[in-house]
Amino acid sequence: MSDEAANAILEPAATRVRDPLTGRSLWLAGMIRDAEMTDDRIAFTLQTTRQHSQEQRDRLKDALVRNIERVGWKGEVVCNLSVSGGAAAPPAHDHSHGHSHSHNHGPAAKAKAAPAPVKGMEGGGMQPHGGPIQKQRLPGVKHILAVASGKGGVGKSTVAVNLAIALRRLGLDVGIMDADIYGPSIPMMLGVKGKPFANDDKKIIPLESYGVKLMSIGFLVDDKEPVIWRGPMVMGVVRQFLQDVYWNPLDVLVIDLPPGTGDAQLTLIQAVDLSGSVIVTTPQDVAVLDAVRGIEMFRKLDVPVFGIVENMSWFKLPDGSKVHPFGEGGGARTASQYDVPLLAQVPLDPDVREGGDSGRPIAYEDHDVADIFDELAASVATRLGLGA
Ligand SMILES: Nc1ncnc2c1ncn2[C@@H]1O[C@H](COP(=O)(O)OP(=O)(O)O)[C@@H](O)[C@H]1O
Ligand SMILES: [Mg+2]
Repeated sequence: MSDEAANAILEPAATRVRDPLTGRSLWLAGMIRDAEMTDDRIAFTLQTTRQHSQEQRDRLKDALVRNIERVGWKGEVVCNLSVSGGAAAPPAHDHSHGHSHSHNHGPAAKAKAAPAPVKGMEGGGMQPHGGPIQKQRLPGVKHILAVASGKGGVGKSTVAVNLAIALRRLGLDVGIMDADIYGPSIPMMLGVKGKPFANDDKKIIPLESYGVKLMSIGFLVDDKEPVIWRGPMVMGVVRQFLQDVYWNPLDVLVIDLPPGTGDAQLTLIQAVDLSGSVIVTTPQDVAVLDAVRGIEMFRKLDVPVFGIVENMSWFKLPDGSKVHPFGEGGGARTASQYDVPLLAQVPLDPDVREGGDSGRPIAYEDHDVADIFDELAASVATRLGLGA
């Protein structure tokens, strides 16, 4: 019997059970593996880590079996427990990409080698730094893409997250780095709780959600602490992301930059070898003015500007007509003035906000706005030379 049949039972059941360590469902955390099903028997592996206590494992198994029965399965249930985390390196990545095209995603995450919580992540790299900045390439990462905006609140993080998911849907290996020192929000938008772990080589294993690997500057700082970030400190954090995080392998690492065009942004942009950038703006003139500064900043630093994403472009009334609460045409005007493409226009839609708040990004859903992000992802992939 097909995997789909097994997934039809396992997905609803495993979605209802949360991993106590990460707060994510067993399904999205990718903890259900190797499902096999016959008419009267369903077998699978529950993949836990060394961080789980035996009691937690038993409880997860019980809850899972109960939920499988609750969703209507009458046959035998065989749940094999497995414990990962003994390996020095993270598990090999599955490069068979057959899984990513459909909307019907399987468990998103791969196993994480997670032997020890990250201690002292603020060490080493965070020292103020005065020397010349060396552009870093990340081993195993083909492309780094910056998502930037002239100011906050225009939907930069929303675009970054949904673009990352849409790129993943194209079958690419995707990571996202939340570098917004002023308001890291990507973990919430991806429904991720908890912190990453380091493996035996002291490499930080990114968290993963919807098949997208994730690191956030929020993991490195206490959110109650006032953060007085200056360029040099940002540099340290960036270096940590670059050197200590095991991204490998990735086709694209999306970076959600802090809004604006100040020192922190410059430092970040100069620190990494960017393949390109996407500028997010809302349609009104003030936002567009800020976007222009962004374009100029990237141009000065020789980073290709792939184009503009205009967010909150219109709002659809119940009768289907469109209104333009933030004005009209700002993205298109700037695009033509600066000779960059207008890559996408994303409507103002309550479902988008709701998706961000609930950790279920709209690009993951069957939704008109998801189609817009699919198109955006395709054109970004083409510009990265990753197009189909
Ligand atoms: N197209 C959209 N429709 C509805 N709400 C949106 C849209 N884009 C962003 N939002 C909401 O606006 C708020 C700010 O978006 P966010 O992505 O956090 O902005 P930024 O990262 O630029 O500060 C969030 O609550 C988000 O859910
Ligand atoms: Mg943001």
